[in-house]
Amino acid sequence: MKKLWGGRFRKTAEEWVDEFGASIPFDQQLVEEDIEGSIAHVTMLGKCGILPNDDVEIIKAGLLALLEKAKQDQLEFSVAYEDIHLNIEKMLIDEIGHVGGKLHTGRSRNDQVATDMHLYLRKRVTEMMDLMKELQKVLVEKAEQHIETLIPGYTHLQRAQPVSFAHHLLAYFWMLERDYERFAESLKRINKSPLGAGALAGTTFPIDREYAAELLGFDGIYENSIDAVSDRDFIIEFLSNSSMLMMHLSRFCEELILWSSQEFRFVEMDDAFATGSSIMPQKKNPDMAELIRGKVGRVYGNLFGLLTVMKGTPLAYNKDMQEDKEGMFDTVKTVMGSLKIFAGMIETMKVNVAAMEAATKQDFSNATELADYLAAKGVPFREAHEIVGKLVLTCIEKGIFLADLPLEVYQKASPLFEPDIYEALNPYTAVDRRNSAGGTGFAEVRKAVANAKKRLSEK
Ligand code: ARG
Repeated sequence: MKKLWGGRFRKTAEEWVDEFGASIPFDQQLVEEDIEGSIAHVTMLGKCGILPNDDVEIIKAGLLALLEKAKQDQLEFSVAYEDIHLNIEKMLIDEIGHVGGKLHTGRSRNDQVATDMHLYLRKRVTEMMDLMKELQKVLVEKAEQHIETLIPGYTHLQRAQPVSFAHHLLAYFWMLERDYERFAESLKRINKSPLGAGALAGTTFPIDREYAAELLGFDGIYENSIDAVSDRDFIIEFLSNSSMLMMHLSRFCEELILWSSQEFRFVEMDDAFATGSSIMPQKKNPDMAELIRGKVGRVYGNLFGLLTVMKGTPLAYNKDMQEDKEGMFDTVKTVMGSLKIFAGMIETMKVNVAAMEAATKQDFSNATELADYLAAKGVPFREAHEIVGKLVLTCIEKGIFLADLPLEVYQKASPLFEPDIYEALNPYTAVDRRNSAGGTGFAEVRKAVANAKKRLSEK
C-alpha cells in the first residue's frame, strides 16, 4: 500500500516488515489526544494566516467527525499506516479530500507524538492522583476506627514495641502522600508543549507555539526544539514515580499477606478479594495482595526498559523511542488497577483486634518500658538496658513473660523497681505514653488522624 511518505521510495515494504515497524496496535490508545493535538495545530495555522480559514474549518470539522467516531470505537486502524498519526491523517484525507493533506503543515510526527504523550500522561496522572486520594481516604477511615487497637510493632520482623494499629496504617498514608506530591510535582513538567518543534529544528512557517499550547491547556512550551522531540524524561519520571508508589503498595501487601496467615491471623481479607484453592478446600488465599506485590515487577521493568532504550540514542528523534509506549500504557493500567483493588481490600478487610492485642501480650515488646522506667529514675539508659536484658533472659529460661516475674526478682535486679512496674508493662499503657511528636501515643495518633483528614480536604 502506498505510504503517506512514499514519494522517494521505489517499492513498498512487505506486510510483515510493516507489522514490525508499526505502533498502531498499541498507540491507537492515543487517538483522542492525537486528534485534539491536530485540532489545536490547525486552529493555530488558521490564526497565523498559514492556512486559509475555509481550509481550517473543513479540516477541523473532519477531525471532529473522526473524534466522534473514535469515542464510539468506530475507527478502523491499519498497520499499513504505521501509527496513530498517519492513520488519522489518512482517514482525514479519505473523509474530506486532499485539503486534509494540509493539516501536517509546519509539523512533524516527532513533535506530534511527543505532544500526544504529554496530553495522555497529564490526563492519566490526574486520574491516578484521584485514585491515590481515594486510597488515602480509606486508610484514614480505617485508622480512625482503630486508634486504640494495639498491634505488635516490628523491626527485623521481630516484635519490637507495641503500636496503635491506626499509627501503622497512617505510616502508609504518609508514604502515599509523598507519592501523591511526586506525581503532582511531575505535572509541572508533563504540562509543557513540544508542539511546533517540528522534526527537530522548528519550522519556517510563522507559527505561534504559545497559542497552540494554550489551546491544549499547557502551561508553556519546551524552550528548545531539539529537546522537545528528543527526550522522554517526563515518561521516565512517571515510571519512576509509579515504581515508588508500587514499592509502597507492595510492602503493605507483604504485611497483609503475613497478617492473613494462620501464624498471625491479624486480618482477614473479604471474600471478594480472596480466592480458594482448586484442591485444598480449607484455603482462602490473599491473592489480590500477592498479585499487586507481583505486579511491581512489571512496573520496575518498564522503568528500566525505557531508561535502557534512551541511554544510547543520539539527538534528536530515533525510532527506538517508539518503544516508550507499551511500558507506559502497561504501567498506567497496572497502577490504576492496583490502587482500586487496594482501596477495596483495605475497606473490606476484617481486623482481628483480639488476635492483634493478644499478640502484644505474648512477647517481650514491653522490655523497653522497663528500661525507660529505670532511666526515668536516673539509671543511665545503657545500664538500665543491661539490667532488663538479664531479666528478659531469666524469663526466657523460665518460659514466662516480664509481667509474670514476681516483684522480688525485679527488686533484686534493681531496688528502684516498685509495684507500678506492672502498669508500665501493660502494652496499652506503653502505647498510650508514647506521645512524642509523631509517636504512637493515642493522643498523638488522634492528632495525626485529624491532620491526615485535613490534608485530604485540602486536595
Ligand atoms: N510512531 C512513532 C513513535 O511512536 C511516531 C513518530 C515517528 N516519527 C518518525 N520520524 N518516524 O515514536
